[in-house]
Amino acid sequence: MKQPFEPERLLHVARTFGTPTYVYSEAVVRRQIDRLRTHLAGLPLRLLYAMKANASPALLRLMRDEGLGIDAVSPGELEVALRTGFPPDRILFSANNMTDEEMHLAHGKGVLLNIGELSRLERYGRAYPGAEVCVRLNPQVGAGHHEHVITAGERSKFGIPVARLDEVRAVVARHGLRLVGLHQHIGSGILSAEVLWQAVRVLLDAARSFSGLRFLNFGGGLGIPYRPDEAPLDFDRFQQLIVDPLRAYLAEHPSKGMACWFEPGRFLVAEAGVLLMRVNTLKEANGRWFAGTDSGMSHLVRPAIYGAYHALFNLSNPAGPLRTYDVVGNICESADHFARDREVQEIREGDVLAVLDAGAYGMSMASHYNLRALPAEVFLPAGPEAPPVLLRRRRTPQEVAEAWLAETTAGTAP
Ligand code: LLP
Repeated sequence: MKQPFEPERLLHVARTFGTPTYVYSEAVVRRQIDRLRTHLAGLPLRLLYAMKANASPALLRLMRDEGLGIDAVSPGELEVALRTGFPPDRILFSANNMTDEEMHLAHGKGVLLNIGELSRLERYGRAYPGAEVCVRLNPQVGAGHHEHVITAGERSKFGIPVARLDEVRAVVARHGLRLVGLHQHIGSGILSAEVLWQAVRVLLDAARSFSGLRFLNFGGGLGIPYRPDEAPLDFDRFQQLIVDPLRAYLAEHPSKGMACWFEPGRFLVAEAGVLLMRVNTLKEANGRWFAGTDSGMSHLVRPAIYGAYHALFNLSNPAGPLRTYDVVGNICESADHFARDREVQEIREGDVLAVLDAGAYGMSMASHYNLRALPAEVFLPAGPEAPPVLLRRRRTPQEVAEAWLAETTAGTAP
């Protein structure tokens, strides 16, 4: 079991608040922020939190108090970030396929826009000549733990291909826009410093001739090891390959005092989250043992859509002998699994399992599919004695039905 999650403390959460429940550890989030700051020390650094990974207000406040900014990609995220107390100048708005309405909203709030389409840049210039803007480039190098999460390269819908920089320049000049930042985000779950460097290098080349830049934003994408045999990102290599050359580059760049921005999501919160669920059905069929739980792909969709690996731990039988299971959910689809052919400490009906590394893209991608309630959410403050705090109560089936009917019929009878 990964530190600092102690089985007893998690079992206590399950007993107190029931299951399914997401649990977030303050200590782990702070540790990850510290790690990143330590490894990137020496750079004029700004960290934005990619709140799409997990927009729990408790985590957002923690990020805010740690001095991070926000990468917001929708009007909803923007609104939540502002209401959680992030000042507009610490938010970057990077909506994909941005509408006029979204553009005016973000600009009106005093937030810097990150624009990844030439037509949008043109519209922005026409609407707000002379405004500051950041441009998202496609460095034509993409990477990620699955093809669904690669966000640059030949086939990507994101960003302006770096080869079209002249057109960017022309639009910017036509409207007197002030290009203050260049951005890229090549994908998610990257564990190779070499691959990251390939893309960073392209952005550095692109930025070489611009004066007046305040920052370069290298995106998120830093991976974490999900599988026991996966090595974490090698930050010594990262230092050699990326941090040191970046420092040299900044010293020579025509834009003086330029900062380096990173906007990680997963790296900061994935390991901080655990999904607690109870096994309610054990069955053997065709020689396989299925452990059926009270959660499912509606709560953690990553295994279903990316074949993602999440470690499992039987909190109720930590010393039990290892046996092989398909650990599955309660949703009516065969993609609904947490693990296949996985060795877990012997599972009995009633046992509580912990799904590890579930803090990123777990709750934020959850749905009410099959009209099942969302999980509860609980915050574990740092310090072993601090009591867990309930962040979100699980709705009862009656409340689920009421909310659904109220939203779909505006409260009126059919
Ligand atoms: N910046 C931009 C513009 C992004 O699109 C993303 C993630 C990030 C930053 C943060 O990336 P991170 O540091 O978390 O890798 N649902 C997938 C991940 C999709 C990521 C989408 N964009 C998953 O569960 O693996």
